[in-house]
Amino acid sequence: METKLLPADDKGIALACQLLRQGQVVGIPTETVYGLAANALDPEAAHRIYAAKGRPSDNPLIVHIAEFQDLYPLVAHCPKLAEELADAFWPGPLTMIFPKSEKVPAATTGGMDTVAVRMPAHPAARRIIKECGLPLAAPSANLSGKPSPTKASHVYQDMQGRIPLILDGGDCQVGVESTVIAVHEDSVRLLRPGGITVEMLSGYCDVIVDDGVLHQLKEGEKALSPGMKYKHYAPSAQVILLDGPEEAFIQYVNSHAGEGVYAMAGEQEAERLTVPTLLFGGEHEEAEQARQLFDCLRECDEKGAKTVYARLPDSKGVGLAVLNRLLRAAGFAVISLDKEDAHG
Ligand code: TXA
Ligand code: MG
Repeated sequence: METKLLPADDKGIALACQLLRQGQVVGIPTETVYGLAANALDPEAAHRIYAAKGRPSDNPLIVHIAEFQDLYPLVAHCPKLAEELADAFWPGPLTMIFPKSEKVPAATTGGMDTVAVRMPAHPAARRIIKECGLPLAAPSANLSGKPSPTKASHVYQDMQGRIPLILDGGDCQVGVESTVIAVHEDSVRLLRPGGITVEMLSGYCDVIVDDGVLHQLKEGEKALSPGMKYKHYAPSAQVILLDGPEEAFIQYVNSHAGEGVYAMAGEQEAERLTVPTLLFGGEHEEAEQARQLFDCLRECDEKGAKTVYARLPDSKGVGLAVLNRLLRAAGFAVISLDKEDAHG
């Protein structure tokens, strides 16, 4: 199949809507990462998404809407708290999980009786949803297991020949996937951290951070969010996280320099490192780190990196999302520089 890559302008959006109404899959921009969109109410369209991504079909898809009223037909019940959070954070990078209505097919929810819904903020995404008149199921537009795409070119790399159209809406402003929460009567459980942070949600209700956010699930443990059980965001290189102060990080990496050894680091750190670096926001630049993270991980592969060192990011704000993705990219490999001799 030929894959067209068009700008997300009037013409591109019109073609996208035509394909979506026919049950096809289209790569679309959102403010978080690019999505692989298709009609959320059509089981065959959902199957096409799983096939294009090479994704296990028990990993449910997020349904994207353009107006708040579009939520009600999709859900069996909407807690009052969810309405308040939607009011505060939609459109934006927040996904909420609801008991699903009968309209939503099991193919979209990976067989679960709940449905995850979000209203994206990217103007092109909202226009597409409105103009095609359908709720759109959309996972991140990467091949399963690869880093999520934050540029149209990333989507093209992974999806060339697999889908008919990709719309280019520029680089994603948030850079990590949406925050996913399960909503209860007066608390929420954070299943995946993202651009809507724990600090932001805490202004409205109690926030319980699920164990799976920062820890590896034990053998046989059930993931509340099936996506959390898969190794994710991984480049082919081995990512190793170093936990410790800047000075110790620099010493450790420099003493482990060698062929195929890279570091992800901010400009200031990069100047003092003897290994080649992939530019990644520095200390206290969590939003910048979030924007650059997936591009960095893709670059590791393009450069043929074998080992990539990164410093454990601060877990404040969107830093928690960066930490969550880096831990998965590293398969939870963290070396503590406080205990280890920095020249190890
Ligand atoms: O920012 C985003 O959310 C992007 C853009 C395209 O909107 N989409 C995205 O989708 O990241 P995906 O499929 O890559 O990740 C969806 C996550 C997975 O971890 C999945 O397991 C979880 O949400 N999820 C979806 N439906 C769920 C449900 N009913 N219950 C629990 N977790 C659910
Ligand atoms: Mg994904």
